[in-house]
Amino acid sequence: MRTSKWLAALAVLLGMTGLIAASSIDEIMVKAHKARTGLRDQIKNAAAMPNPDWAEIQKKTKEFVELAKELVKYDPPMGTKESWQKHCAEYVEIIKALDEAAAKKDAKGIAEVNKKLGASCKGCHDAHQP
Ligand code: HEC
Repeated sequence: MRTSKWLAALAVLLGMTGLIAASSIDEIMVKAHKARTGLRDQIKNAAAMPNPDWAEIQKKTKEFVELAKELVKYDPPMGTKESWQKHCAEYVEIIKALDEAAAKKDAKGIAEVNKKLGASCKGCHDAHQP
């Protein structure tokens, strides 16, 4: 009883600090694309500020690249492996472009890549989201 409560508290704590890596496609999608709190919106909104905090943005785009690379490790619920690998590779390329724009402190570039990212959801979902 005591131990299980303690473990539950620990799990909550680790979850809060983000130390537990994503463990499913859905979890990656939420971490990456959830409105406002997802990395995509956080980066987009931070870069649109009059005086962007580039150090913070660069930290987030790096985290986004690592997260994007995780995607291909999971099997999609639908579609072929070849198609999945192709879509995942394209996705990583887009997030890398986001990271490159952040490295150059290029707010316009970030906005442009974000449009590309927004246009990429449907193709992958059509092929792989049931
Ligand atoms: C490389 C492929 C790929 C790309 C690109 C992609 N997704 Fe997904 N997404 C998936 C798959 C596959 C699922 C379904 C996972 C499952 O059902 O197990 C999914 C599920 C989701 C979900 C449901 C999560 C949940 O918990 O129910 C959301 C929301 C989502 N995606 C948002 C987005 C948005 C927004 C974009 C574009 C900015 C995007 N996705 C781009 C593959 C992708």
